[in-house]
Amino acid sequence: MKNIFDPNEISLVADYIRQGEIFAIPTETVYGLAADIRLDNAIKQIFSLKNRPNNHPLIIHISDISQLSDYAIDIPDYAYRLAKHFWPGPLTMVLRKSKLVSNLVTGGQDSVGIRMPNHELTLSLIKLVGSPLAAPSANQYGKISPTNAKHVITEFQGQVKVLDGGCCNIGLESTIVDATDVNSYSILRPGMISTKAIHEVLGNTDITYLDKRTKAVSGTHKYHYAPSKPTFLFESPNQLKKISDLYQNSVYIISFNDYYQHLDLDGCRMPLDANKYAKIIYGKLRVADESSFKAIAIEMPPREIEWEGITDRLIKSSAKSMEIFIK
Ligand code: TXA
Ligand code: MG
Repeated sequence: MKNIFDPNEISLVADYIRQGEIFAIPTETVYGLAADIRLDNAIKQIFSLKNRPNNHPLIIHISDISQLSDYAIDIPDYAYRLAKHFWPGPLTMVLRKSKLVSNLVTGGQDSVGIRMPNHELTLSLIKLVGSPLAAPSANQYGKISPTNAKHVITEFQGQVKVLDGGCCNIGLESTIVDATDVNSYSILRPGMISTKAIHEVLGNTDITYLDKRTKAVSGTHKYHYAPSKPTFLFESPNQLKKISDLYQNSVYIISFNDYYQHLDLDGCRMPLDANKYAKIIYGKLRVADESSFKAIAIEMPPREIEWEGITDRLIKSSAKSMEIFIK
C-alpha cells in the first residue's frame, strides 16, 4: 500500500486512525507520529516505532480550546490566558490529566501535555477522528525531528504512513509550559514562543515564574535532536579550524558566514533571522548527516532571546561530540 496521503484523502486517513492505525501528521512545528488517544494498542505502537521508553509522556493535540476541560482538571486561569493568546500555535501546556487520558499516553504521570496545533489540515483531521491525537515528533528516539513528509519516510524507511501537509512553517518543536501549579509556571522546553513572550502575557498577574529546566522530559535530556555524525558547535574561526583539523577537513559547515568557502569545504549559509533559521535547520542537519562528510560544525546563533529555542536544540544535538572535544 502507498504511504503518502494527500490532503484530499483526509477522511480516509481519519478512518484509518479510528481503526487503530498510526499516521504521521503535519503540524506547524514538526511532523508528529499520531494515534487516537482512546486506542491503547495504537498508543503502544507509537512507543515501539520510535524506540521510545514508555515512561516518556506524549503530547495530545486538540482542535478547540473548549476541549481543554475534557482532558485536563484543575486548570489555572493563567493557562486559559496562555491558550487564548497562543492557540492555535506552538505552545504545549502540561496540566493535571482527566480520566479521559490514559496512563499509557502520559507514561504513568498524572499530568498531560496538551496543545492545539496551528495547521488547518490537522485540526480538521482531529475533528474527523472525533478525539484528540497523541503525537510525539515523528523521528526515532533522540534523533532529528522531521519537517516534511519525505523526512518521515526516510526516518522510518517507508514503514510509516504520512498525511502530507507540506513543509512545517515553524520547524522547531513547541514551547512547553508546566501549568500544573495554580500559583507558578515554568518552561520545560523553550521554543519559538519565547520565555519573554510568555512572561509578557502573564506579566500583570501574581503568578510566579520558576526556572526549573531540569524536570525530566525527554527533550530536556542531555543528548537529543542528534544527527548520527559527530556534531560540533563553534563560536570562532579558531574553533572551526580545530574541528576541521580533527576531521581532516571533511566537515559540513552550517554557518552565518561562508566559512566553508574560505576553507574550501561544503556547507550552507544560514539566515540571521530566527524564524527563517528555525524553519530550515532540521532539513539542513539531515542534508549534512546524509552527506559524505565525516563531521558537522554549526556556528553558534546570536544570544538574543528569540534564538533560545534554536540554541537549546543545537546544544543538545552537539552535546555528545562537544564532550569529547572539550576533553
Ligand atoms: O511541537 C511539538 O511539540 C511536536 C508536535 C508533533 O506537536 N511534538 C513533540 O513531541 O515535540 P515530543 O514527544 O517529541 O516532545 C514532547 C515533550 C517530551 O519531551 C515529553 O517528555 C514532554 O513533551 N511531555 C509530554 N507530556 C508531558 C508531561 N505530562 N509532563 C512533562 N513533560 C511532558
Ligand atoms: Mg521529539
